[in-house]
Amino acid sequence: MQDLRERLSERALLKGVELGKDEERVLRDLRRWLRRDIPCKGTVRTEDGSYTLIDPEHGEPYHSLTAGALTESLEKFFKPSGLSEIAPFRERIAILDVGFGLGYNTAVAVYELRKLNRKVRVEVIALDKNVPENIPDLPEPYTAVHRKIMGLLPEGESDGVSVKLYEGDMRKTLKAVRNFRADVIFHDPFSPYRNPEAWSLELLGLVKKLLREDGVWVSYTSSLPVRRALYELGFKLGSTPSVGRKRGGTVASIKGCVGELTTKERLKLLNSPYSVPLRDPGLDLHPTDILIDYRLSVLLRERAVSSERRRELSQIRSS
Ligand SMILES: C[S@@+](CC[C@H](N)C(=O)[O-])C[C@H]1O[C@@H](n2cnc3c(N)ncnc32)[C@H](O)[C@@H]1O
Repeated sequence: MQDLRERLSERALLKGVELGKDEERVLRDLRRWLRRDIPCKGTVRTEDGSYTLIDPEHGEPYHSLTAGALTESLEKFFKPSGLSEIAPFRERIAILDVGFGLGYNTAVAVYELRKLNRKVRVEVIALDKNVPENIPDLPEPYTAVHRKIMGLLPEGESDGVSVKLYEGDMRKTLKAVRNFRADVIFHDPFSPYRNPEAWSLELLGLVKKLLREDGVWVSYTSSLPVRRALYELGFKLGSTPSVGRKRGGTVASIKGCVGELTTKERLKLLNSPYSVPLRDPGLDLHPTDILIDYRLSVLLRERAVSSERRRELSQIRSS
């Protein structure tokens, strides 16, 4: 790939941003975001004893090692989604699983839903560009449901559970999903700075079209560019409890009930220079360019804030 410094200069020129003395600072952030921590692949045991895989492309495990893979599906996706509240009263529940991966989020949700309502039909639309091989089983009591779901791929139905997998880049496949409105969306790509094409304002705009107005979008991340994009798309935001790390995740809905962000989180969302969405206007940018454009927008906000501060200071001095 082209040298990062050269690529940054080209994008800055294209966007009309003068980098000047800020170039090194911008490059430092970009190098940190583009670093791959774990460049190998394989199976790993997570904190709760369940197993996950490592993805060498993004340098990340499919699940949080410190929370545990199963615990993550249960505590960061199923519980905050509010599915257990609606399950007893519904004949049918529709789930959009964005970043299906090892199928853990779907399997845990199906098992838990059926425990609450034996008769509920569950329809799952799953998106992934590459469902890996040699997926470890989920532990009991989820093993049988997980195996059943994996056995239905790429499309199938059994015992009131239907699954349809759209394979390929979600930027394309999301547009192919028709006549479907989700009660819940599990948004679970790799982390926003490693997998930015899956978290842009434009991508989340496509996702929003597939969610019922009272439906709930849920994710493990509390990343500012993601929250900012959801906010600009008209979502109400809430935070989910932290599990296995300091920060919690995010729930969002247009008209449904998702609680609230804390005051500190709201202030950060409104004021931090890093609170700008990742942008991918044609849904076709290279991930590195999405990150560079994002960092350039942050730089412009940083400069606007510091010139505002200078103006305020000089007003105070002259009064
Ligand atoms: C963190 S893993 C998902 C784990 C999964 N939800 C589970 O419960 O096992 C992220 C997944 O997002 C998928 N992904 C990342 N970028 C994508 C893209 N642009 N289009 C489609 N899938 C993508 C990866 O292939 C990977 O399977």
